Amino acid sequence: MCGIIGIVSKDTHSIKHDTLPLLKRLEYRGYDSAGVATLAGDIQKQTGHIGPFIDSVTDHRTQASIAHTRWATHGGVTALNAHPHADGTGQFMIVHNGILENADALRASLPNESLVSETDSEVVAAFFHDRIGVQGLTTDAAIHEFIGAAEGTYAILLMQRDDPTVYAIKHNSPLALTRASSMHGATILASDITAFGHLSDEAQFFEDQTYCRITPDSVAFFNAAGDPIEIEPKSFEWKDDASLDEYPHFMIKEIMEQPTTSRRLLESLKTMQAAELDTFATTLKKARRVVFLSCGTSYHASLIGAFLLNQLNYEAHTVIASEFENFILVDPSTFVIAISQSGETMDVILPLKRIENQAMKIGSIVNVPYSTIQRHSDTTLELLAGQEICVASTKAYTNQVIMLIKLAERLGYDVDCDKIPGRIEECLASIDGIARELAVELKHTREMYVLGRGAAYPMAREIALKLKEIDYIHAEGMMAGELKHGTLALIEDGTPVICLIHDDNPAMRSSTREVEARGARSIVVSNTGSGEVNVPAGCEAEFAIYSCLFGHLLSYYIGVERNLPIDKPRNLAKSVTVG
Ligand code: G6P
Repeated sequence: MCGIIGIVSKDTHSIKHDTLPLLKRLEYRGYDSAGVATLAGDIQKQTGHIGPFIDSVTDHRTQASIAHTRWATHGGVTALNAHPHADGTGQFMIVHNGILENADALRASLPNESLVSETDSEVVAAFFHDRIGVQGLTTDAAIHEFIGAAEGTYAILLMQRDDPTVYAIKHNSPLALTRASSMHGATILASDITAFGHLSDEAQFFEDQTYCRITPDSVAFFNAAGDPIEIEPKSFEWKDDASLDEYPHFMIKEIMEQPTTSRRLLESLKTMQAAELDTFATTLKKARRVVFLSCGTSYHASLIGAFLLNQLNYEAHTVIASEFENFILVDPSTFVIAISQSGETMDVILPLKRIENQAMKIGSIVNVPYSTIQRHSDTTLELLAGQEICVASTKAYTNQVIMLIKLAERLGYDVDCDKIPGRIEECLASIDGIARELAVELKHTREMYVLGRGAAYPMAREIALKLKEIDYIHAEGMMAGELKHGTLALIEDGTPVICLIHDDNPAMRSSTREVEARGARSIVVSNTGSGEVNVPAGCEAEFAIYSCLFGHLLSYYIGVERNLPIDKPRNLAKSVTVG
């Protein structure tokens, strides 16, 4: 994962006030350590979040800087493993996002270079020192050789001491470039537009196996062979939501934004995105089968998609993206729909690239425009949830589910989507109190179960995921019918079990009685007024949304009770760009 930033400017810029604030906007990509390097060869880096790093950093002005926020893959969370890395002489400095799969082989081919960290990335600085500093190759020739030799994924920024030129090299990891008029026309390089969406509405997105040479006066793109290439600038609209307003955490801010974000999406599906929605519906009707490709919370949305399409007699399947090719068949009559908030999840991108020419069509449903997944799809729908900062997805997830319900409505599913935003608003207001009370009761809980059937089953999984990632509670979300085939053995006196019951479903009522008979502390979520938690009336798919609002609020308030780092849970990152 990780996030990278580079700035090259005509005048000097400040690492504390210009470079690192942009890096902070990428902190959701990883927050194990952060670091920055200047043209003079000054490298500062430390473990922990970027905020304290910015406070402690010694400011320097420089014409070129590179910076990095890390989610550890190779090597522990230590200052030595933090980026930027330099070669032994300190001449060549790099930041890297991705994984070099043949780092050991590259390292072995550089016997005269001394490497000190456990990372795969440090070898990049050593490689360029060897080729340029020792063997005397030009930088372009060395990059050409690097692209030929390196295996894996990389977005790399390379800078040499005292030369105000940054080289940006890209393969499989995202990288974008813009010019910021507010910074006197400085060129900014970043892992994604989140870093500079407040400064610019246009960017160039790197293609695989390309690189770019950026000086204070010029920007030139090249292919792997060193031939000049053009990369068209794309304009984008990016709603910048980086402030907390009156909220203590982004998670609760993003939960409470949902009446607005859901309205915005539904409005756009009648106007701006009406044609794309039509394309999805038409393609779906032509396809023999639909398969969804997604992971994490987005996978739970895809389960709702599969549920709805099967209700409508379309053959639809979904499998977690990292196991996609082992369990799903894609042929020329298959419509593949990738769902992803970030549009950058490597577990989704890898199979997507492999099946590009096998499927009838690839559709994507993403929140971040121009993301890699969007750029690899034939047709796309945008979630328009605005920037989501909390690692755990809430508002983007709800919009994913609404998008799928809207698509189902378009194909004949009986639902009135226009009522959903108002009901979300009503639901949030009415369940907030009970979610807070239950959080106090459950704050010391170590395990929990969430049961659902039909459209509520994905929500059971989603609620359990939130209890795990936000509250560090071992939670299992499952099909209620499966309970008696094993998991019931774990239910003891007082074990908390959330039961999602739509329209007083008799089978769900039985499952609830079964756990209660073993002493469980059941918490019934109902849409008929018969539960401890009561959500608005509505069809099964709507119940999925409203019951999940309760799960998100509950996990938020338990996190508050436990005083946990809600927006940045330990060991996680929002955008997982390694496979
Ligand atoms: C990470 C995040 C999850 C997210 C998953 C998929 O694991 O922590 O919250 O659901 O990635 O992300 P995507 O951007 O593809 O929806």
